[in-house]
Amino acid sequence: MGKLEGKIDFSKIAEEYEELATVQKSASEVLLKLLKIRNSEDVLDLGCGTGHLTRKIRSLTNGKVVGVDPSEGMVRKAVEKSKGLNIIYEVKSAEDIDYEESFDVIFCNSALQWFKDPEKAIKNCYRALRRHGRIGIQAPAKKVYCPNFIEAIELVKREKRTKDTFAHFKEPWFFLETAEEYKSLFEKCGFKVVFSEIKTIVTEHTHEEVFNILLIWSDSWISKPRLLRYKADKRLYISIQRNSEKSL
Ligand SMILES: C[S@@+](CC[C@H](N)C(=O)[O-])C[C@H]1O[C@@H](n2cnc3c(N)ncnc32)[C@H](O)[C@@H]1O
Repeated sequence: MGKLEGKIDFSKIAEEYEELATVQKSASEVLLKLLKIRNSEDVLDLGCGTGHLTRKIRSLTNGKVVGVDPSEGMVRKAVEKSKGLNIIYEVKSAEDIDYEESFDVIFCNSALQWFKDPEKAIKNCYRALRRHGRIGIQAPAKKVYCPNFIEAIELVKREKRTKDTFAHFKEPWFFLETAEEYKSLFEKCGFKVVFSEIKTIVTEHTHEEVFNILLIWSDSWISKPRLLRYKADKRLYISIQRNSEKSL
């Protein structure tokens, strides 16, 4: 078992990410349906990774399309794969974006759980959106978002051979427990929430597929994961409108 590395960085998995991101891809389809991007809208893809969904967004609008992600490796891959598509990419975290009323839509798929300071990030999103702009978020939700995965972590924390490696392990994710709590967080930052739902999605996979799914969840902080089975996944879908009356 490799050592736990304190810093989360997706760069290490940039090469294989798109091929392995099956869960993220299927969940993004629900989010795209919720957001209904129109063909002249300016869109920010927040936590864009290697840009596979940014490129999809590019095909939906003639407006400006920007992808932002703090991982240099992911953004490098995104730039490489988006040649000639007129997409702007920036290496930045959601906590550091400083756009002012620049977008009609913010799309954020499978990234919220990694935000270090979600409230700051959401306030930045509010500022980045034009009046009546909207943000759609899809992310794993709840502390036990994938019971088998959480159980595996608990096991390796207790297991003789791995407990030293995991002695200082701190869960790196941001989770709330109810759709109402997510709603409140966004309302606190000025948004009017029009839809907020936590769905339990159960999917069955082969061991190899399970390993690949968990590889991209864990490889940003463990160098050699050994993991078990994957079955259920709790996902948050939230669609939010910038409230025109309030300004931060
Ligand atoms: C699971 S990937 C999702 C990528 C892409 N949105 C997708 O759905 O395939 C999570 C992404 O969130 C990014 N991320 C991590 N912390 C972030 C932050 N604070 N702000 C914005 N993005 C962040 C990671 O670098 C990574 O590319």
